[in-house]
Amino acid sequence: MIPLSLARIAEITRGRLDGASPETVVAGPVVIDSRQAGPGALFAALPGERADGHDFAAQAVAGGAAAVLAQREVGVPAVIVDDVLTALGALARAVIDRLPDVTVIGLTGSAGKTSTKDLLAHLFSRLGPTVAPPGSYNNEIGHPLTVLRAGEDTRYLVLEMGARGLGHITHLARIAPPAIGIVLNVGSAHLGGFGSRDVIAKAKGELVEALSAQGTAILNADDPLVRAMAGRTAAEIVTFGRAPDATVRAADESLDDAGRPRFTLVTPEGSAPVRLRLHGAHAVPNTLAAAAAARRLGMPVAEIAEALSEAEPVSRWRMEVTERADGVTVVNDAYNANPESVRAALDTVVHMAREGRAFAVLGGMAELGASTVTEHEKIGAYAARGGLAGLIAVGETAAAVLKGAEQVGTWTGERVQVEDVGAAVAALGERLRPGDVVLIKGSRVTGLERVAQAVLTAVPAEGGDHA
Ligand SMILES: Nc1ncnc2c1ncn2[C@@H]1O[C@H](COP(=O)(O)OP(=O)(O)OP(=O)(O)O)[C@@H](O)[C@H]1O
Ligand SMILES: [Mg+2]
Repeated sequence: MIPLSLARIAEITRGRLDGASPETVVAGPVVIDSRQAGPGALFAALPGERADGHDFAAQAVAGGAAAVLAQREVGVPAVIVDDVLTALGALARAVIDRLPDVTVIGLTGSAGKTSTKDLLAHLFSRLGPTVAPPGSYNNEIGHPLTVLRAGEDTRYLVLEMGARGLGHITHLARIAPPAIGIVLNVGSAHLGGFGSRDVIAKAKGELVEALSAQGTAILNADDPLVRAMAGRTAAEIVTFGRAPDATVRAADESLDDAGRPRFTLVTPEGSAPVRLRLHGAHAVPNTLAAAAAARRLGMPVAEIAEALSEAEPVSRWRMEVTERADGVTVVNDAYNANPESVRAALDTVVHMAREGRAFAVLGGMAELGASTVTEHEKIGAYAARGGLAGLIAVGETAAAVLKGAEQVGTWTGERVQVEDVGAAVAALGERLRPGDVVLIKGSRVTGLERVAQAVLTAVPAEGGDHA
């Protein structure tokens, strides 16, 4: 963060000082967890679902925080504002306005934002000091906090922008106006809240609407709803994808035995081979989007291809592939799940198993609203058509998943319905043999990463005895 006096912070946030000296300087960071408040920090007291940040104000100051951003007096030095979240946004905007050398890159889409954010950070760190959010910090809180981490030396600021409704991305884009806006895809994540894909497209497209004529919109040429966003912006359009007319595209694509993509990165300036360390064909569009952004910032194609080939998975539980000592391969993709990402993960494990056995443990896909049952049936059918050796469906949506699978008459795999994580672990314990590949996937609320952890730490017993 750039250092700001409390007087300036009060001015920016239209707040007033309480028990604080106007000359006190906040050097950052701005934090919302009082335990992270060290010397020079500003602690933003947010009213949370379980706890109210105001109750931790004294603790933050005891830890060294210069002051607290609060909605009421808290007995320690504070800037009192009407609304802490609005004040964070105003502060973030003020910081960005003082950093003209920072290029803001905004990124949205239904699936793959965090994975692509990690790729962007990896590529841009070759170009200059880069700030990107940790994990999946993409909402109205994580976004300004990430912006506030930018300082005088920052050159690139990568922002993951999530939307749960119309206007959300417009709001985030006002806080940090992007020079480059990337839209990955329009899927069915949060379909329940939005009502239809067209509304999701409307919401995601707010990112390109926020770009100026000097900006660049990077759009997925393979997704018709994203491609159509070209008409919603005055910015330069760059497309990516597998389509022959995409500006930045993948050609000669294949997967190696471990499910890692190889392809030729084709750009108007030339081509170069890429061999990813990431798993699944769905990593390819994410890679192309990141490549298009790096190209726009002047990185030569050979260097982009080299950097992409070196990129390791960063954020946890996204296609995290681990081989157990006995040769069982566990694919932990349990960070979240929606129809597109489940299909992509299933394709990958079926490919990885080749002639061997592939299993899938599928928990529910959340937030699908009225389409919940049909989407789970469709996923069950898709899994069955992939020819799994076994499909273990977990929780409330299990019946729908297995019903869909049952309708695929040609499928001879085993259908297993279990109630919870523990039962899923037991079901796998009885079945997994060396050489098998197992996918573990479900929405965040299902907590299925615990299945992956249990399977990986399980010591396979002799002779199939798992008592
Ligand atoms: N391009 C893609 N298409 C389909 N699935 C994808 C794609 N990229 C990543 N995924 C899968 O989607 C899931 C979520 O990935 P990631 O966390 O990168 O997405 P996100 O958009 O940040 O999600 P969230 O909305 O939860 O922040 C993972 O299972 C990942 O493997
Ligand atoms: Mg994310």
